[in-house]
Parts: sequence; C-alpha cells; structure tokens
Amino acid sequence: MQILNIQNATVYRGPHKVLLDFSLCIEEGDNTAIVGPNGAGKSTLLKMLARELYPSGGKVEIFEKDRWNVWELRKRLGLISPDLQQNYAPAAKGVNVILSGFHSSVDIYDHQKFEVAQVETANRVSAELGIDHLREKPFSNMSTGEQRRHLLARALVNDPQALLLDEPTSGLDLPATFQYLETARELMKSGKTVILVTHHIHEIPPEVTNVVLMKDGMVVDQGPKKSVMTSKSLSSLFDVDVELVSANGYYQVMPAS
Ligand SMILES: Nc1ncnc2c1ncn2[C@@H]1O[C@H](COP(=O)(O)OP(=O)(O)OP(=O)(O)O)[C@@H](O)[C@H]1O
Ligand SMILES: [Mg+2]
Repeated sequence: MQILNIQNATVYRGPHKVLLDFSLCIEEGDNTAIVGPNGAGKSTLLKMLARELYPSGGKVEIFEKDRWNVWELRKRLGLISPDLQQNYAPAAKGVNVILSGFHSSVDIYDHQKFEVAQVETANRVSAELGIDHLREKPFSNMSTGEQRRHLLARALVNDPQALLLDEPTSGLDLPATFQYLETARELMKSGKTVILVTHHIHEIPPEVTNVVLMKDGMVVDQGPKKSVMTSKSLSSLFDVDVELVSANGYYQVMPAS
C-alpha cells in the first residue's frame, strides 16, 4: 500500500511558494528520512500530509485516498512536530495529553467521552513510554523530552499506520535522544512506517531504508539510503564541503578535510 502519493503539488505560505510542483511517493514500510537545509520546506511537507496546510494544485493521496475526514486521517498518520509541542495546551495534565489523541484534540474536554478500553490503552502506552509518573503534571511544567514523549504517546494510542516525526530529537539530551530513537526503531520493526525529518545525520537509524533530499521546495534526490547518502550529494545539498562516513548502519558527517 502507498502511504503517500504526491504529484505536482504546490503549497503557498503567505505569498511565497514553499513547495514547487512537488512529487513524492512513499510505500508502506519505506522508513524514510527527509534531509535538507533550513527553509527547504520539510515541515511544510509534513503539515500538508497532516492536512494542516492544503496544496493549491496537484494531487495528494494519503493511504491511496485523496479525500479524508482530517480527524480520522490524523489518527492513522501521527504527526509530532515542534509546532504541536509549542502550541499544546500548557495546563493539560500528562494523562490528558495522552487521552487527547483519541479525539486528535489539544487537551481533553468535558463533552468528550472515553471508553474503558481507551483509558486502558492510554495507561498501557504511558507505561511503555515510561511517563506514568507524570500523569498529573501540567504540560508546561514538563521537560522538553517529557513533553515529546507525551506527544508520541498521544499519537500511539491510535495505533497509527505511519508516523511523521519532525526533528524528533531537537532539544533532547543524549539519554533522551537515544531513548526516543530506540522507541522509533521499535516502531519501525513492529511494522509502522516512520517518516523522519532530521538535521542530525548521525541519528538516522539503520532501519531507515530511504532518504529524500529536499532543497528550495523540491526533491533534489531520493531513493535507497546507500545510494542517496554520499559526501557529494550532502555537500551539494547544504552548499558546504562535507565528508560522510558510515559505520554499523549509521552515518556521521564532518567538514571535508
Ligand atoms: N507561517 C509561515 N508563514 C509564511 N512563511 C512561512 C511560514 N512558515 C514557514 N514559512 C516559510 O516557508 C519556507 C519553508 O519552511 P519550512 O518550515 O517548511 O522549512 P523546513 O525545511 O522545515 O526548515 P527548518 O529546517 O528550518 O525547520 C521557509 O522559507 C519559511 O520562511
Ligand atoms: Mg522544519
């Protein structure tokens, strides 16, 4: 099954065209890293997929459908982004952040009903992600890493088919980074398709099979990780001479000597 099929989409933000005649296909199981300079349009792409932004032309099919009830779509396709984290309700308690996933809402409200099974699922995911002790803590009083795990839990209660992670480790310390990436790896191994935007080349997990290089609102290159990730392609992408080395399925990028 195709997770997404974008053909010739154009997206404006304000007066600026941010995605230009953009085309990209990702099949189920193609765990993909999207890499590109600041302003390339990576976050815009993820927002378009989650129907937070709409293209002004072209075709955007998600799970092989072009029309979606956005609330249903967002349950099948979990987006965790810096914007969501920044705009999430500061007063929401940990447990309610997780429960809010069932309604794709920000915090929960009196009129929303939760079944016993849903509360049990929220509790299970909370325990799995090690955030049970933060049930009563307001979102605004959590650390960046604690907030990030709650937003992941919020997405996971719906057992999504695919996850869109926008800079998932930004602001996390080393153990929190490793812990978050380990969770992402487990999700990929369990059959979820993960689409990851990152500036940290060394954090692209071995389970990521495909890479998309983006610049100026366009796909510059895409394909199997091994063929796309080269010193030459990254030097050209970032307009700086770099040397790429790989070990144990990971990559490291350094200034070219
Ligand atoms: N709310 C907005 N209004 C107007 N223009 C915006 C808005 N958000 C982003 N843009 C512009 O759209 C372009 C692409 O931004 P986007 O956030 O998609 O880039 P990105 O690849 O995610 O960059 P970064 O690596 O810095 O996160 C940039 O030129 C940016 O200035
Ligand atoms: Mg971004």
